[in-house]
Amino acid sequence: MSSPLRTYEPRDRGALYEVCLRTGDSGADATGSFTQPALLGEVYVGPYLALEPELALVLDDGAGVGGYTLGALDTRAFEERCEREWWPPLRERHPLGAYPRGSADAAVVELIHRPARAPEVVVAGHPSHLHIDLLPRWQGGGWGRRLIEGLLDRLAAAGSPGVHLGVGVRNPRAVGFYRHLGFTELLAVGDTLFLGRSTHT
Ligand SMILES: CC(C)(COP(=O)(O)OP(=O)(O)OC[C@H]1O[C@@H](n2cnc3c(N)ncnc32)[C@H](O)[C@@H]1OP(=O)(O)O)[C@@H](O)C(=O)NCCC(=O)NCCS
Repeated sequence: MSSPLRTYEPRDRGALYEVCLRTGDSGADATGSFTQPALLGEVYVGPYLALEPELALVLDDGAGVGGYTLGALDTRAFEERCEREWWPPLRERHPLGAYPRGSADAAVVELIHRPARAPEVVVAGHPSHLHIDLLPRWQGGGWGRRLIEGLLDRLAAAGSPGVHLGVGVRNPRAVGFYRHLGFTELLAVGDTLFLGRSTHT
């Protein structure tokens, strides 16, 4: 069988939004929490596919795309492009206050209107960042490692010295995975741990 790991293609977009939602509750399925199933993907998947598709890797065994890693080479430049190109139409479509206060939808809309900016101390030595999500049937088989290594190779080839990510402290499995792969703690802010490592494998 040929490798299921390949570069993203535009036809994968819907499947990636679905994977994001089905792993969006600290690694567990967040489907039941949202009335708008695409909202989470609009924040954590869409801008990467639109702005840095060459850094998007997917797992596809013919039964559908079941995992991905997404990257941004230069986090500050990415944040600025999102501000110009990605957030404005989403803000029009999802105004603040459109969903009940305290709902999952409202929390994501808040992020669309006030996107998180990576802390300076995190970006300084680790200018790139990544996201990774695999559906349960892909987990625990080495595919997370292969995706991360594939992305690190691309980031290194593009000249990035280091990559960071944010992970919730309520997702100890993911924290253990990243630490095992050589990521170390850069900063803790509230419930979020920022971890980073060199792009050189
Ligand atoms: C977290 C996640 C990306 C890990 O991917 P995975 O495919 O399950 O992990 P792998 O099988 O590739 O594991 C790679 C290595 O890490 C190790 N590892 C995995 N989880 C670990 C943990 N919690 N603690 C210590 N080591 C761990 C594995 O033993 C393996 O070691 P080896 O390669 O040296 O033999 C995946 O489980 C996932 O997508 N979970 C749901 C979504 C999620 O939480 N995403 C992260 C949001 S920040």
